[in-house]
Amino acid sequence: MAAIAAKVPTLTLNDGRQFPIVGLGTYEAPPGVVENVVRVAVDAGYRHFDCADFYENEHEVGRALRDAIREGKVTRDQLFITTKVWPNWHGRGRPTLSVQRSLKNLGLPYVDLLLIHWPTPFKQVDNDFYPQDASGQVLFDESIQLVDVWKEFEQIKRDGLTRSIGVSNFNSEQIADLIKNSSTVPAVNQVECHPYLSQEKLLEWCRQRGIHLTAYSPLARTGTAEEKNTTSPLDIPLIKELAAKYGVSPAAICIKWQTQRGVAVIPKSATKERIVSNINIFHFNLTDGEVKAINGLNKDWRNNTWSQFGINKSKNWPFNIPF
Ligand SMILES: NC(=O)c1ccc[n+]([C@@H]2O[C@H](COP(=O)([O-])OP(=O)(O)OC[C@H]3O[C@@H](n4cnc5c(N)ncnc54)[C@H](OP(=O)(O)O)[C@@H]3O)[C@@H](O)[C@H]2O)c1
Repeated sequence: MAAIAAKVPTLTLNDGRQFPIVGLGTYEAPPGVVENVVRVAVDAGYRHFDCADFYENEHEVGRALRDAIREGKVTRDQLFITTKVWPNWHGRGRPTLSVQRSLKNLGLPYVDLLLIHWPTPFKQVDNDFYPQDASGQVLFDESIQLVDVWKEFEQIKRDGLTRSIGVSNFNSEQIADLIKNSSTVPAVNQVECHPYLSQEKLLEWCRQRGIHLTAYSPLARTGTAEEKNTTSPLDIPLIKELAAKYGVSPAAICIKWQTQRGVAVIPKSATKERIVSNINIFHFNLTDGEVKAINGLNKDWRNNTWSQFGINKSKNWPFNIPF
C-alpha cells in the first residue's frame, strides 16, 4: 500500500513566500539514482528540494520534478526548489550564468530560492569547481566583494529567475555587511546544523533580523561523522531514548528538533524507507525540556571543515569568529 503523503508545515520568509520546513537534500544523490529518489520523495510528500549546480545532478532532479508536474502529482506552485551559486561563479555577470545553467539543467524557468553557496570567491574559471595550485590549494579571487555578488542576486530576482534570495555558510558579520550595503535582507542562511552544532547564537541573531536558518547535514552525514571519530548523532543515547519513546527513528528526532526550533531542515537520503520516515515527523512533539536537552549536546563540532583544500585560508573564511 502506498504511504500517505506527509503534510509539511511552512515557514514564512521575509519576502512573504512560504518555505516548507522539511525538504530533501540532493548532495551525493548519484546520477542514475537521484531521479527515482525524487519521485519517491514527491510521493512521500516532499515539496522542498535542495539542489546546487555543484551537485551535478540537477538534470535528473529536474526531470523527475517535471514528470511529477506533468503527471498531476504536484503543481509548480506547490514546489519549492533551491539552487546555489558555487564560488567559481562569483565574478561580475557569472552568478547569472550559473543560475541560467541550473535552470537549463532543471528544465524550469525559475527557482524559488537562490543561495550564495559559500562566501569564499575562487579563481573565476568555467570548468573546474576547485581551481587549485600545484600543491592542491584552492586559488581565490580576493578582489571579489560579496556585496557585489549579492547585488547581482538582487538583479537575478528582479529578472524573475528566482523568487527569493539568500546565503549559505555565511557568518553574522558577512550577513550584516550585505544588509548594510544593499536593499535586501537575505531570506535564508543555510548552514551546517545538527545536535553537535546547534547554532543557537547564529539562529537567534538571524531570527532578530527576519532571516530563517536552514540546517544542512542535519544528521551530521552519519558515516562521515564516524570516520572522523565522532559518534553518529543517531547513536547518541538521548536521541535513541527519545526515538524509542516516540516510536520513530533517531533521524526523525534530529529532524523534529530542528522544526520545533523553527529551523528548516533538508536531510538527504537515497533509501526509500528513510526518505519516507524523515518527513513523517508531524504526529508527535518533543517537550520543551527535550528540545533543551538536545540543544545541550552541542559541542560546536563541524563535519564540513573543508580544510583539505586550504579553503580556510580565504580572507572570507566564515568560521574564524564564534558565529
Ligand atoms: N550549503 C552547503 O554548503 C551544504 C553542504 C552540505 C550539504 N548541503 C545540503 O544538505 C543536504 C543534507 O546534508 P548531507 O547530505 O550532508 O547529510 P545528512 O542529511 O546529514 O546525512 C545524509 C546521510 O544520512 C543517511 N540517512 C538519511 N536518513 C537516514 C535515516 N533515517 N537513518 C539513518 N541514516 C540516514 C543517508 O544515507 P542514505 O542516503 O544511504 O539513506 C546519508 O548517508 C545535502 O544533501 C545538501 O542538499 C548543503
